[in-house]
Amino acid sequence: MYLQRLQDPVLENDWHAVYLASELRDQPIGVIVLGERVAIYRTNKGVHAVRDLCIHRGAMLSKGRIEDEVLVCPYHGWKYDTSGQCVCIPAQPKGEAIPSRAKVDAYGCVEKYGFIWVCIGEPAADLPHFEEFDSEEFRPLACGPYKVNAAGTRVIENFTDFAHLMFVHQGLLGHPDYAELPDFKVNKEKDRIYIENIPIFQPVAHSGSDKKEGTTYVYMKEVYRPLSARLSKADPSNGQTLWIMLTVLPVTAEECLVFMVVSRNYGFDVPDENFIKFQDIVFDQDARIIETQKPELLPLDLQVELNHRVDLFSVAYRRWLNELGVVVGTI
Ligand code: FES
Ligand SMILES: [Fe+2]
Repeated sequence: MYLQRLQDPVLENDWHAVYLASELRDQPIGVIVLGERVAIYRTNKGVHAVRDLCIHRGAMLSKGRIEDEVLVCPYHGWKYDTSGQCVCIPAQPKGEAIPSRAKVDAYGCVEKYGFIWVCIGEPAADLPHFEEFDSEEFRPLACGPYKVNAAGTRVIENFTDFAHLMFVHQGLLGHPDYAELPDFKVNKEKDRIYIENIPIFQPVAHSGSDKKEGTTYVYMKEVYRPLSARLSKADPSNGQTLWIMLTVLPVTAEECLVFMVVSRNYGFDVPDENFIKFQDIVFDQDARIIETQKPELLPLDLQVELNHRVDLFSVAYRRWLNELGVVVGTI
């Protein structure tokens, strides 16, 4: 596949979830971040990421293997340590120094929330926080990743949208007879935009709820990185709350991978698979719509699409991307 690294000073310096941590075992794996091929791998010291391009003849290091804690290129066997430095050139006579240029770029790489996260630039902020992952009262589950042929910005905007719940997720997360939204206010702070106390009637109570019929949930939604957002959906009558953190990996400008953590403080006796399956269904419904949207890239010029009063949150998101200077996934 022909790939070109995308230039975006904001997204390059941000963390992106790239892989399910549980699936990264003893083989290196190749992922794509902003058009750049990245090899991730695990050693006894933790997880690591390097540019997926051997300095020698450009073979993919992710097709190689891990041997004695170093990454071995599959072509001529050059070995790289976790800093990206080449430490062995098998064809070279023993005792000869390794050329100093023999190294590959190493990237920031951490394991958190069930995912491997990579930053291909200089991290400008921490990972998105998600307290409901570590809290004893909650039970977190990693969902996805879901591949979407659309810009990551479109996915985040959809995640913040309420007015589609009654149509795209009709019968699950909303009903057309209850489509009217209350007046709401968007709050903006330095690193986040959010709305809260939005009541939404849902025809099906969530899995594990003691309710048989539909119920009105109260939502909070927030975007706290350009491509990371979260929401909570609470039943005020019993405190049962579901948190979802969603983060999007921009593979290219018009393709992304969506990672999600779903964390609940109820229904611990309900099989986790039920929650994952539910998310798979709901997200697939979203993806089918998002992939049809034009323009493919999110227009930051607010005159390009018709922004209604009910779209205040999405307008705030577009304005925020504009202020931050996010380039990839926008026009
Ligand atoms: S291309 Fe990697 S060792 Fe030659
Ligand atoms: Fe949706």
